[in-house]
This record gives sequence, structure tokens and C-alpha cells, in this order.
Amino acid sequence: MRTVLYNYQIVDADTCLNGTVVIDDKIITDVISADSFNYAQKIDLLSTGACMVLNGNGLCLTSGFVDMHAHFREPGFSQKETLESASLAAAAGGYTTVCCMANTKPPIDTMEAALALRTRACELELIDLYPVISITKKMQGNKLSEFLQSVEEQKQITYMPLLLSEDGRDIADKELYRRAMRIASVLNIPLSCHCDLDGEDAATQRVIDIAKNTNCRLHIAHVSTKKAAGIVRREKAGIKARGADGLSLTAEATPHHISLNDRLAKKLGAETNGKVAPPLRAGRDRTAIIEALKDGTIDVIATDHAPHTMFDKENGSPGFTGLETSFAVCNKVLAGENNFSLKQLLALMSANPARILGLNDRGKIAKGMRADITIIDLEKTWTVDSYNFKSRGKNTPYNGMMLTGKVLRTISDGKIVY
Ligand code: DOR
Ligand code: ZN
Repeated sequence: MRTVLYNYQIVDADTCLNGTVVIDDKIITDVISADSFNYAQKIDLLSTGACMVLNGNGLCLTSGFVDMHAHFREPGFSQKETLESASLAAAAGGYTTVCCMANTKPPIDTMEAALALRTRACELELIDLYPVISITKKMQGNKLSEFLQSVEEQKQITYMPLLLSEDGRDIADKELYRRAMRIASVLNIPLSCHCDLDGEDAATQRVIDIAKNTNCRLHIAHVSTKKAAGIVRREKAGIKARGADGLSLTAEATPHHISLNDRLAKKLGAETNGKVAPPLRAGRDRTAIIEALKDGTIDVIATDHAPHTMFDKENGSPGFTGLETSFAVCNKVLAGENNFSLKQLLALMSANPARILGLNDRGKIAKGMRADITIIDLEKTWTVDSYNFKSRGKNTPYNGMMLTGKVLRTISDGKIVY
């Protein structure tokens, strides 16, 4: 089936033009600029016999967002979120590809568990879900996960995760960590690190030092302090200066760390509704993270979507539900208040995470790419009310806040999912 999306402002990490996107089944088969010769005739021709023609009236059309870091809570915590509610929330937030973390009950520490979850997610036909596999067995920090062990034993691999991570906790055993990094490098899978042993700053330096000479693709999750951002900047510069020296380094920041600070956390309840790991930081940290996103030190915006029940929040569970506010929050802080271009913003939310995860078929609007498309009204102002979220997690720090920029429609793998 053909879909013709005409009269859009097409924007991605490299492009900004007015025109038309043509989808045939699940692939983008044409991107045509409205300036091109005989545009009207061409669109007429393309729409002949088309099953669906959508007039965008100048709305923004971009590539589906890619989230390297979300918690979907299945198996084990369906009171917080289900595979379905999380997938619907992702689609509503403009996300078409998501990596979900392994800290479930039981933890996702085998290929079989990850594949079972992915299969169920595929059956929902909403978004493309890639379960992360934990680094250690049962996430207990003392033995490599079965997945990493079985790779050493050269068993047959049926599911290749896009990311390995122990997100939710750090790993104390250095040697174990280094072994995991070596295996990850052989498999060419990036390893996402939750750095908080002896504090984020020390832990960030530590994990980079452990990774040296392992050839690992190291990714630092949710960087939130000025110092940690400085460490990533300096280490990246070092890697660049020395040439390939057995390590590649990338990093992410969350919408909440670039938009909120510790004063707000206190107001919401430092041990309850304002609690997140890493915690909301001082104003100077927030500014430093934005600076690090601007100069390329931090490559990616990742939501760390962490839905909880109200009861769990009141009892100290850390995290915020984040998929459905991510774009509007980043639009406000980065584009609105810090002069990021739309191209820069979309690089952070789509092209860069797709590249880091090795997904060459998405992240941009171009011929031959997967038809993952998000349509946004950049002018629309709306008030956050978590009652309206698709996510079961209503634990947002943004309730009542006015934001500008609303995802209106999401197409995933050629199908309208929102
Ligand atoms: O705030 C957080 N919540 N940080 C984490 O690292 C884990 C997450 C969760 O699973 O709730
Ligand atoms: Zn997380």
C-alpha cells in the first residue's frame, strides 16, 4: 500500500525542506522537495491509486524517535506498566524504536527471555522493541549473565540485543565488568553503564578506566552532573587525539535532568514524587548538561521512562514516567531556551541513538529508510495531565506545566500506531 504525505515541513538531523514523503508498504520510497520542478504533477502522479493521501498543512514531519533507555516493567511489575501500555505511551510520544531495560522480575538475563518479550511486543504491532540483556546473572553482580556466558561457549545466538546494561545499579566487580566489556566488543554490542558507585563522578571515570583497551563501545547512561559531563568530554577528546585506542565512548542525558533541578525535587518530595536516580541536580549541573548536548559531548536524549504506581512513589521508588512528555520538554528547553536548531534536537532524539544502536535503516527521513515517521505540531501548546497518559505510570514531575510542541501522529514500520 502507498501513502503520500504531502505539504509537510520535513526535518531530520540533516534535512529541512518543505515537501512530500512517499511510503510504499514499510519503506520510504521518495522524498520530494516542493521546490523541485513539476512538483504538483509529480504529486498528482504519485497519488493516483494511492490508498492514503495526507495533507500536512505545513506540520513538521520527522523520523520516529529512538529511545535507548526505558523501563517497560514486564515481566513482574505490570501494576506499574505493561508491554501494551508502555508501547502505546511510546507511540504517543513519537517513539518508534525503544530499548527496554533488564531490571524486571525476573531480570532479563537470557536471550530466551529477551526474545519472548520482543515477540510479544511485535504482536502488538505498535513499536519496535529491543529488550536489553543484563550484564550479570539475575542482575546480582557476581556472575556474567547467561547470555554473555553462552557467547563465550559459542552457542547459537537467536536474539542479538542492541544494548547490554545493568541499568538500575552499578557493578562493583571490576574484573567481571571488564570481561563483559571484552565480550560485548567481540559481539559489537554497546554497553550502557549506570554509574553510581561512590557517586556519579567517580563511577563515570571508573567505568571508562575499566573499559580502556577492551575495544568496547561504552555508553554512559543518564549523565547528570557537570563533573561527569566534563569527564566524558575530556575522555572523548583523548580518544580522538590518540586515534582508535580500544574504546569508543558515547553518552546520554534525560529530559528531566535538562529541565528540572534539586529545588523542584524538594518541592515535589525529595524521597517521593521528586525522587529519581540519578537525582535532580543543582542549576549549574543542569546548565552543564545542556552545554554538553550542544557541543556533542553527550550524543543522545534518552527518556529513562520509569513508570511507578502512586503507592510505590510514596514509598520511595525512584523515577519518572517520561515517554509522553519527552519531545515537548526537550523542545522547550533545547530549542526554546537554548537555541538548539530543530535539526540538532532531532539528531539527539533519533539519528544519533539509531547510529549508536547500529540501526542503519532508521533515524532519518530518506529514500530506502524504514517508514518510521513522527508528525508534530510545533506550535501547539498543551498542558500536561498524566491522567491522559497512555502509560500506567502517572508519576510525572510536569503535571500542570504548559508545553509547546505536540506529537499528532506516529507511523511505525509503515503503520499508523498513534
Ligand atoms: O530513577 C530511576 N528509575 N533510575 C533507575 O536507574 C532505575 C529506574 C527504575 O527502574 O525505576
Ligand atoms: Zn533507567
